[in-house]
Amino acid sequence: MTHESKREPGGRREALKAIAAVGGAVGCASLAVPAARFVLAPAKGGAEGGRWIKTVPVASLAEGEPKRVALIADHRDAWTLEKQVELGAAWLEKRSDTVLAWSVVCPHLGCAVGRAASGPGFYCPCHDSSFDGDGRRLTGPSPRPLDALPTRIEGGIVMVEFQRFRQGTPEKEPVG
Ligand code: FES
Repeated sequence: MTHESKREPGGRREALKAIAAVGGAVGCASLAVPAARFVLAPAKGGAEGGRWIKTVPVASLAEGEPKRVALIADHRDAWTLEKQVELGAAWLEKRSDTVLAWSVVCPHLGCAVGRAASGPGFYCPCHDSSFDGDGRRLTGPSPRPLDALPTRIEGGIVMVEFQRFRQGTPEKEPVG
C-alpha cells in the first residue's frame, strides 16, 4: 500500500469536490428562478388598474352632502394577505340617482383634502389648494382637479373604483 493507496484518498477527495461543484451549480440554477421572482415580485402587481371596493349604503348619504368614507378591503402583496385594511379614502356625494366620488389625496403633494371651511367644495391645508363642489381647482398649487373615482351602486351599496394617481402632474396618471 504504498504509493497507490496514498493517492486513492486524494482521488476520492477530488471526485467528491467535482460532485459537490456540479451539485452546487445545479442547486444554484434551481434557486435562481425563485430568487429572481422573490426580488422582482414586489415591483410587480398593483399597477393593473383600479379595484372596486364596497363602501356604504347609498341610503346613508344625504343628497348633495359630501361624506368621507374609508376604502377598506383585503390587501395582498407578493408575500402576505392583510384582511380588511384601509387602502385609502374618498369623498362621496349623492346627486339624484348617482354618487360622485373623489380621492381624498391632494393632486399636489398628497395631503388629505378636507371640506371647505364654508360652503361647498374642498380644501387642502398643506399649501392652500381649494376646489369647488365638483372637484375643480379654484386656487393653490394643485396642478389639476381632485381625482374623480368611478362609482356604481350594487344592491344599495356604493362601489368605488379605487386607484392612486401620480402627484404633481397636470394629467391624471394612474400609478400602481
Ligand atoms: S398637498 Fe395639497 S396643496 Fe400641496
